[in-house]
Amino acid sequence: MTKNVRKAVFPAAGLGTRFLPATKSQPKEMLPLVDKPIIQYGVEEAHASGIDNIIIVTGRGKSAIEDHFDISFELEHLLEKRGKQKELDLVRKISDLIHVSYIRQKEALGLGHAVSVARELVGEEPFAVVLADDVIDAETPCLRQLKNVYEKFAGGVIAVMEVPKERISAYGVVAVEPVEFNGTKDRLYRVTDLVEKPPLEDAPSNLAIIGRYVLPPEVFDCLDRIQPGSGGELQLTDGLRLLMEQGPLYAYRFEGRRHDAGDKLGFLKATVEFALGRDDLGGEFREYLKELKL
Ligand code: G1P
Repeated sequence: MTKNVRKAVFPAAGLGTRFLPATKSQPKEMLPLVDKPIIQYGVEEAHASGIDNIIIVTGRGKSAIEDHFDISFELEHLLEKRGKQKELDLVRKISDLIHVSYIRQKEALGLGHAVSVARELVGEEPFAVVLADDVIDAETPCLRQLKNVYEKFAGGVIAVMEVPKERISAYGVVAVEPVEFNGTKDRLYRVTDLVEKPPLEDAPSNLAIIGRYVLPPEVFDCLDRIQPGSGGELQLTDGLRLLMEQGPLYAYRFEGRRHDAGDKLGFLKATVEFALGRDDLGGEFREYLKELKL
């Protein structure tokens, strides 16, 4: 079977309750970090990792996502007429580079369910899952890092990072044993157990699952077998637990900086950091921040 990862599933049917009222009539995936919607960061990461088939699992009220990745004839025509080439390139760039399909998740039954909805579109090949709320700034795109592991070990691989003890219950958590990879034993692990949002005393480690996965198609049969778990939802983590019974599953402590853009404070921090990193805004913005009497 091919080890080539060509498709990425983006679950995007959530209600965005953490961002109300902003998300009452617009999807949280479309909230802009500086000037790009959150979801575009994930899509660009996939493209930079050699994954150009994007499958977005949407729900009610998410048509703005479809419009965003579509051609906007009127806008492009107007920009062309006015000679605004730079803006035109910005608008066209991403939709020219990728192929997007959409599928509806009719009910928000959980992340495991959202991924399983994409089964027909993924088919019998390995695929990535991207949780767009997790925006990852990295020299080598995080998905590319996971693909490298998948290509070598041919087993599912999950991105993980160390989080402080008091935050661990907000994540899926893995129990692991180290595996040698590229001359070190502190990046790649074999997963021996995983649990979704455990109470602190039950957390098997301080390694939290972050929203990037590369998975074999066998995970779909596993997802068909799961029962409602943490929060009464069908959890991807529980599907991965079943997958682990069939073959090795890996966790990769990726290199890069992750922002939780689905959280208000995380979103603000990401906005500040991305703005500071911009050539066109960073200088003046830095000066402005320095002037604030904090
Ligand atoms: C999801 C996953 C969880 C993971 C987290 C990372 O949870 O279920 O395992 O640690 O994303 O962002 P959510 O934050 O959607 O509740």
